[in-house]
Amino acid sequence: MKLDRLIAKHRSLGRSEAHRLIAAGRVLVDGLCSLANQHEIDRFTRVELDAEIVQSPQRALYLMMHKPAGVVSATVDAGHRTVIDLLHDPDKHTLHIAGRLDRWSTGLLLLTNDGRWSKQLMDASSKVPKTYVVETDSRIPSDAVAAFAEGFHFAAEDITTQPAELVLLDDCRARVTIHEGRHHQIKRMFGRLGCFVTALHRESIGGLTLPEDLLPGQWREVMAEERGLSARSKICCSTH
Ligand code: URA
Repeated sequence: MKLDRLIAKHRSLGRSEAHRLIAAGRVLVDGLCSLANQHEIDRFTRVELDAEIVQSPQRALYLMMHKPAGVVSATVDAGHRTVIDLLHDPDKHTLHIAGRLDRWSTGLLLLTNDGRWSKQLMDASSKVPKTYVVETDSRIPSDAVAAFAEGFHFAAEDITTQPAELVLLDDCRARVTIHEGRHHQIKRMFGRLGCFVTALHRESIGGLTLPEDLLPGQWREVMAEERGLSARSKICCSTH
């Protein structure tokens, strides 16, 4: 919502009266005077008019977790433990997952209550790279690198996967980077080559890499600098 609209709504005023209050320097946004009627205000922004609080900010959460095998990437599940169950934070039920991992996959999982951040990371159009280490039950064929670069047609969605990079680590291990996130994408791509994925571990999403000292089941805040943004709020969290 724009600042002028918020002020007008809060005081039951017309838009031009709100403009006058803003122009008079009576409105603070996150503690600083704003003269911009069109200042974009989201639910994480604090807004004051004179000494009065117009909007209290919601606490923004940006977390990374080392997802262990066997835990479901979901906020609720009737039958299994979820990644939310591993967290100890009073606001954990406001979180959603930015890029799920299958139940038996492991590695970097991002959780947030800021839809703009997760959208930016997960939108196919953003082409944010996601890197995985994959183990297979059989030898990865020599033409796999070219096949991943070319893309696979998925009939169910009628799409062809974007070029992916495959680096063979040994006969049955590879590092794969994809730039989108289709359902079971990596398993389906290896399936096309006749390989069954026996282990799948996500190492990184964009510039965020799973820290070596973050053990399975542990989580921590993603700092503002790591998100490439200015600090929005200080978040306290501990490891599991
Ligand atoms: N691709 C898969 O097949 N599974 C995952 O968990 C992530 C990507």
